[in-house]
Order: sequence, then C-alpha cells, then structure tokens
Amino acid sequence: MRFHVLTLFPEAFAQPLQFSIVARAVQRGQINIDVADIRDYTHDAHGTADDYQFGGGHGMVMKPEPVFEAAEATLSAQIPVILTTPQGELLTQKLVEELASSPAIAIICGHYAGVDERIAEGLATRPVSIGDYVLTGGELPAMIIIDAVTRLLPGVVGSPESVAGDSITTGLLQHPLYTRPAEFRGMTVPEVLLSGHHAEIDRWRRRKSLERTLEHRPDLLSTASLTNDDRRYLAGLGYAPPDAGQVEGRGADHAQD
Ligand code: ADE
Repeated sequence: MRFHVLTLFPEAFAQPLQFSIVARAVQRGQINIDVADIRDYTHDAHGTADDYQFGGGHGMVMKPEPVFEAAEATLSAQIPVILTTPQGELLTQKLVEELASSPAIAIICGHYAGVDERIAEGLATRPVSIGDYVLTGGELPAMIIIDAVTRLLPGVVGSPESVAGDSITTGLLQHPLYTRPAEFRGMTVPEVLLSGHHAEIDRWRRRKSLERTLEHRPDLLSTASLTNDDRRYLAGLGYAPPDAGQVEGRGADHAQD
C-alpha cells in the first residue's frame, strides 16, 4: 500500500511514523509513505501557498495552484484522493476498511482556515473528517488515517484475531483487558479470567463489551449484530432498543429540517 501525502508541513511526518507497527510496516515494505511538500510547487520567492479569502473573513486559504501541481507531479493512477477537513465524511472503521482495500491513497492535508473550494471540487474525491472538532491542520488526521489503514493490511499486525476483535470492528466496544500481575495495588483481575474456563471467559467478555457499549456508545447498539442472549442482557441493564422505523439522534434532527 502506498500513501501519498501532500502537505505544507512535511517535517510533521518525520517522527510520528518512525516507531512501532507503522515503522515496521515501512521497513518490511508493506507500506510506502511518500510525503510531498506543497511549497515546492509554488512559483514565487516566498513560497506563497495561502492567500486572503475572497469576500473577506478571518483566516488564510490554501491556494489551488500549488496543490493541483503537487498532485499532478506526484499522483499517477486513479486512486482515492482524501482531503482532510472538518467538513468531510466522518472517519469510521468501515471507511478505514474501504481505504485499506485500495492499492494506494493520496491525502491532501488542509491547513489554515481551509482550502480553496476548487481543490475539494476538482482534485479531492473523498473529504474526510476525523471527528467533530477543529484542529490547526490536517497533518494529524492524515497520520491517523495512515495508522488505522496500515494496521488492517495483511501481515502488519501479528495476529489477525486481534484486528478482528477490535473495538468497533465487532460493532461493540472492546471488553476490558488485563495482564500480569493478577493483583496490583489492591486491584485484582476478575476471577473468571484466571479460571481457564473458556466458555465462561467468552461470556464475561461479551457482557463487558455490551455494558461498555451501552455506557459509552449506545448509538452502536442499533447496528451491532446482537444475539437473543445479548438482547436479554441489555434489557436487564435497562436498554430499550429504538422502535423499528423511528429515526434516532442526528437523523431525527435532520428529519425535522
Ligand atoms: N482539519 C482540522 N480539523 C480537522 C478534522 N477534525 N478532521 C480532519 N481534518 C481537519
């Protein structure tokens, strides 16, 4: 998998991708990360890549010419071209899986107040936001995308089961994890995990996943695949599934628009 990154701050990518699993994937040739400096494609002595907004307003806007030229110089085949922006589609594990199936992706890192809309219209195929908050730039979101996609690639993470059992991938949040020592500062590991009774351990983990999901991300429960046993357990915790046909959360707000 090849990642092409187009950024005004290439130095931001030097350290963060040089340790642990992503660094190992680079060393093994499982991924390539090509970072292009958009400023190399500017044509004035100052390397001007941003300018004032037409119509007035606070904050500078990334100019279209250097970004288009950088893309034309570094990207060849038809690959997904992501633009990191708070206005984009929310990055979910489903989107990460989709991106991981592509042999290459490009990521344009937005910066300042944003990018000229012609970059979004004429170059990017996929605006992506990593969450409902605003960062100073798209470099961290780009690294997050690279990290999340990389760990799904075959052979990158040691055991495929650990990827398959991830929070969210299963539709539920992950159960608690413990390692040695069995007792630490008076806090003990749940007895069942020391029992060696695999069926009981699986049951305990499933229930903890359900409890956590209900507490922190109840929205996930409406799409998770749940067994009758799960449903009974959740009902015992006070969870009432939304009525079929009723639109939940943000959807309900939009439905009234
Ligand atoms: N740039 C600034 N904030 C961002 C966000 N939340 N996601 C993606 N890119 C961004």
